[in-house]
Amino acid sequence: MPSTIDEIRTALETRLTAARDAQDVRSAQIEYLGKKGTVTALLKQISGVAEDQRRQFGEQVNALKQWAAQAIEQRLSNLSFTTRRYDIDFSLPGQLMPAGKKHILTQVEEEVESVFLSMGFDIEEGPEIEQEYYNFEALNIPADHPARDMQDTFYLAPGMLLRTHTSPIQVRTMKRENPPIRMIATGRCYRRDAVDASHTPVFTQVEGLVIDKDITFADLKGVLQEFVRGVFGSSTNVKLLPSFFPFVEPGAETAISCPICGGKGCPTCKNSGWIEMGGSGMVHQNVLQEVGYDPSIYQGFAFGWGIERIAMIKYGIRDIRMFYDNDLDFLGQF
Ligand code: DAH
Repeated sequence: MPSTIDEIRTALETRLTAARDAQDVRSAQIEYLGKKGTVTALLKQISGVAEDQRRQFGEQVNALKQWAAQAIEQRLSNLSFTTRRYDIDFSLPGQLMPAGKKHILTQVEEEVESVFLSMGFDIEEGPEIEQEYYNFEALNIPADHPARDMQDTFYLAPGMLLRTHTSPIQVRTMKRENPPIRMIATGRCYRRDAVDASHTPVFTQVEGLVIDKDITFADLKGVLQEFVRGVFGSSTNVKLLPSFFPFVEPGAETAISCPICGGKGCPTCKNSGWIEMGGSGMVHQNVLQEVGYDPSIYQGFAFGWGIERIAMIKYGIRDIRMFYDNDLDFLGQF
């Protein structure tokens, strides 16, 4: 008997080594461990063996069975490994995995931030769900002020709203810190505007604020000049036009020389050579007083521009809705 067990083991070993695929191994498995298999037949013999040898024989047959099951599994996994290895054709060109990228608005935001970081500005943040106080009152826009109509607001609860601009971040920063201040903040803003080629209810702004002693309108112009040259190229110029915003005095609309035609006149600048980019001005005394600064010691300037507008001019995008349509063919170009 023992020789039979050893013979069976050796035969199965040889058989498995010779197996060329999983199919070979499976048929060996049936031959040895199947219902009518060699090992199964031995198991059935156990009860017929003379009593003094039964126990030893039983142990040997069971050990054989266990070994056979393991050897078969082992061989199967080796085979699948080697088969897989041979399946790989290293000469084939690789498959490109589709990779995500930053949204164009995020890219422009980061570009703007890097221009201001290089001028020594800090980057601040503020909440999109804002208190009416920071969005309006503290910015010299009291409850009955007509300027509130310019900014159709999503109110969430009495005194709470979705910020209509990034200017409340000015107030939060001034209340938290002492002058001098040099900051910008970018972020989403919300207004109840009807959607068209130049309006979306969600849009992105960049806000800037500088507060120090002896700050003048010339500093505002100089900083804006650096900003637009960093983003649109070194030959871009800035022009300040009188305008009104309750939180600045004097206030100015900022125009840049058209980066598309270099100021000669083209459809983008409506043949004027200039493109209006956003608001700016010297921080209003009421705002400085509201945050506890003494206007006879500290002055400052501020500006707020649309990131979408910057991106549209930089990349020749005609419709603001493109930024929010999630069309991957469009977004993938940037
Ligand atoms: N917050 C203004 C708006 O969204 C833009 C603006 C104008 C911001 C003048 C400023 C500024 O900081 O000085 O309409």
